[in-house]
Amino acid sequence: MTKESSYTAKLPGPDGLYAYSAEEDAIWGELYRRQMTLLATTACREYLEGVALLGLMPQKVPQLLDVNKRLNETTGFGVEGVPALIPPSQFYALLSQGKFPLATFLRRREHIDYIEEPDLFHEVFGHCPMLTNKNFANFVRHFGETAVRLGKGYSWHLFRLFWFTVEFGLINTPQGRRCFGAGIVSSPSEAKSAMEIQTCEFRPFDMLSVLRTPYRIDILQPIYYVIDSFTDLEAIVEQDMEAMILKAKSLGDFPPAFESKAS
Ligand SMILES: [Fe+2]
Repeated sequence: MTKESSYTAKLPGPDGLYAYSAEEDAIWGELYRRQMTLLATTACREYLEGVALLGLMPQKVPQLLDVNKRLNETTGFGVEGVPALIPPSQFYALLSQGKFPLATFLRRREHIDYIEEPDLFHEVFGHCPMLTNKNFANFVRHFGETAVRLGKGYSWHLFRLFWFTVEFGLINTPQGRRCFGAGIVSSPSEAKSAMEIQTCEFRPFDMLSVLRTPYRIDILQPIYYVIDSFTDLEAIVEQDMEAMILKAKSLGDFPPAFESKAS
């Protein structure tokens, strides 16, 4: 969570369960139904299968314990509730251990269309379905291991790889281009922009280009990178990431496709 956040961390009870109100269940349900309608023809098969495998339903905010159990049964991945924004080193360490850090508060109705900080809907509906896919889960774990091994000096560039895949990735399928990135599947406006409005640029995934591409977190993405398969994605972090990042640093960033406030 950012310093300006008006949300407070939600903590579990002694039984590990989080208490969500009827209003929060209603907000979850509204978001779930709206996104599932949109995603039926725009998300990739692996994502939609993941939603079913996790047993996500519109009636109730899912419990972290249930999501954790189902993920464990599919790919061995897990989730860990985090109380607030965590430092990059902790984020990467958790990923390397096969645990995805989750914010556990849910957005309020006034933020139903857009919330800058990641809430439970983004985390569970956005991230967790893809973690039921073996290739994707391996990618995330290896990404975390690489980030831990390379340390702080590489973290900035490595997060660009995370951004353009785990958060805003698209994939070519026999049915056409489909989305899987959590920032797309969990956002009504991003899902429309990435799939329906042809005002953004779609680039074939290229590691060096990704590492050189600045982004902003608070705008609809002007550039998306498209992978060809999740097997390819898994192989990405088996490259010499240190050498790739050093090369990206020496070549420098591409000019931003947006105004100021680059991340
Ligand atoms: Fe995210």
